[in-house]
Amino acid sequence: MPKKRDVPEECRWAVELFSGEKAERAVELCLRGYSLRKLALLTPMELADLLGYDDVADAEKAARRVREAAGLVSRPLTLAELKKTGGGRVLKTGVEEFDGKTPWGGVKFGLIYGFVGEYGTGKSLFAKQISAAALAAGLKTAYFDTEGVFAIEDASFDRMLKRFNAPEDAYSRMYLYKPKDSFELIEQLRELPEDIDVIVVDSLVAPFRAEYRGRQMLAPRQQAMLYALNILQRYCHLGKLAVVTDQVVDVPAMFNVKRPAGGNVLLHTVHALFMLERPNKAKLEGRMWPLDVPGMSPDVEIRYEIRDDGLY
Ligand SMILES: Nc1ncnc2c1ncn2[C@@H]1O[C@H](COP(=O)(O)OP(=O)(O)OP(=O)(O)O)[C@@H](O)[C@H]1O
Ligand SMILES: [Mg+2]
Repeated sequence: MPKKRDVPEECRWAVELFSGEKAERAVELCLRGYSLRKLALLTPMELADLLGYDDVADAEKAARRVREAAGLVSRPLTLAELKKTGGGRVLKTGVEEFDGKTPWGGVKFGLIYGFVGEYGTGKSLFAKQISAAALAAGLKTAYFDTEGVFAIEDASFDRMLKRFNAPEDAYSRMYLYKPKDSFELIEQLRELPEDIDVIVVDSLVAPFRAEYRGRQMLAPRQQAMLYALNILQRYCHLGKLAVVTDQVVDVPAMFNVKRPAGGNVLLHTVHALFMLERPNKAKLEGRMWPLDVPGMSPDVEIRYEIRDDGLY
């Protein structure tokens, strides 16, 4: 058991909540970046895994202690209280019609946004643009580039930062992750520093599609992807904003109808899902519409233009 005075101030909770071997492991986790709040987001099963509980009931007791200590035991709010506190923080994206037509007037913290579309529709550009807008607002961003397309030599991100008047220190507030596979993506998502405000995964679905091949792997693939989305959902409970992108697949027997490659898991888990389309690749313009967005009719059309510093 680690001596309390040998444990750094910010990890004292570990020895206060746990004893013996469990306390040792909790201190280790804390030194690795697991704050009390982050630990409080874990399920009893995950806690059992990390701290070495063999018994479900013990793990549940531990989870209860951790959540109470972190102040994450939620109580319901009345609608009157909610109206008073307002809807929460919103970030303007710079796409005029998106900011004008979505119910929140931009992208809202606490939600997972999904952008689905064919190649070249502007999903990555929009994902980068939201990151740039967040950096310009003084926030921290974690950008997961699963396709290996984010290159520091590509000046389009610099131009976006300039467009949003981001200060010079923006570059040191953006963390670029390049997970090799879906396993590493999930590991990195779990270990994310707590002070990150915006999490972008471009593309979320691609690694799962590439690795879990064949129909018989569909169920485990969707299960693994659901877990990745579930981690993002927990960060949303802490008030963070998440953005994921997805490709499309053709709907068999229906000409020119596309649906998200992420399937039902994506449709059910993402809070606001938009489809992007660029009918004429010779023109730098496209449109997006809500596939599944609360408070937004599916016939709303958001037109955008692609320029060298992002979407307008
Ligand atoms: N700097 C730029 N200036 C003008 N147009 C650009 C610029 N950068 C990209 N584009 C155009 O915008 C399109 C959208 O690019 P983006 O990388 O966002 O597509 P995507 O939807 O992420 O596609 P994919 O599914 O292949 O990842 C590109 O095909 C290109 O035609
Ligand atoms: Mg892309």
